[in-house]
Amino acid sequence: MSHDIRKIAVLTSGGDAPGMNAAIRAVVRTAISEKISVEGVMHGYQGLIDKEFIPLYGSSVSGIIQRGGTFLKSSRSKEFRTPEGRAKAYQNLQDESIDALVVIGGDGTFHGAELLMLENDNYPVIGLPGTIDNDLFGTDLTIGYDTALNTVVDAVDKIRDTAGSHDIIFFVEVMGRDAGYIALNSGIAVGAENIMVPEEITDVDKLIVKIEQDQRKKKTSGIIIVAEGDKIGAVEVARLVKERMPNHEMRVTVLGHIQRGGSPSCMDRVLASKLGYAAVNILKEGRWGVMVGEMNGKITETPFDKATKRENSFDKSLLEMARQLSI
Ligand code: F6P
Repeated sequence: MSHDIRKIAVLTSGGDAPGMNAAIRAVVRTAISEKISVEGVMHGYQGLIDKEFIPLYGSSVSGIIQRGGTFLKSSRSKEFRTPEGRAKAYQNLQDESIDALVVIGGDGTFHGAELLMLENDNYPVIGLPGTIDNDLFGTDLTIGYDTALNTVVDAVDKIRDTAGSHDIIFFVEVMGRDAGYIALNSGIAVGAENIMVPEEITDVDKLIVKIEQDQRKKKTSGIIIVAEGDKIGAVEVARLVKERMPNHEMRVTVLGHIQRGGSPSCMDRVLASKLGYAAVNILKEGRWGVMVGEMNGKITETPFDKATKRENSFDKSLLEMARQLSI
């Protein structure tokens, strides 16, 4: 495939993730080095429909590599989910003479990207994995995941101080509507007594037995990490445990959106820079319709439909490992 790329557009879509700005910077500066001009699209796919284009230059992305969020802003556009919305978006790309679109986001973003491409004569769209959830196939890590994990670990370490001082069992809800990667790895890192994830239904009786055993061993406080998408949920599991252990103090803490914010970690800045650089070069070489990732230190290209299939190996044996390590 070959395609003359003279002008591209870049947007961020879905939940923001630390490192999105670093990715935009890499896309813009690589494109400019290659004599390709760049339009930024504000507010994700909705901005594409509403013609929110802004020209971007090398200087437009100065001083943003260390900033959380996305300076292009983001949205979860309902209109873009309709064929009419996507047709408007495509027409606007044509009107602006934009030869290719770079999208930075998660599974919803890539689903939209694929439809835009397929409905419009294979229009060139390429993706970068930007989500704290790490739930995409075709990359070892998504942009934002490392920073989010460090935010969770920092917060839970603080909660652990109070748990220990007051003999409290904390149920800490972390993000991940559909995936338990944040819960799994932050849980291991904080030495959680138990980790609850959407990928596995927690046996509450077994959990209570474990907590009772801990109590007998004079382990009078604890941290249970619960993914947002867990089938039982932090509030309900805390209620069930309290019913059986009425004399023990329990608390539920929902970490919420602090997990999406903050300055990106070094790992996220490097990953975002590598993937943004690679994406523009891949487009130049005449390939698209893929999410650009990194696996085992090598740049990968995964078709959009495969990237969103959730085939990432979720290693359930690590849940058991975490339990054993917390005895
Ligand atoms: O996809 C990123 C994410 O932060 C998920 O972990 C979470 O379930 C969801 O977005 C929350 O989205 P919103 O901010 O739209 O409620």
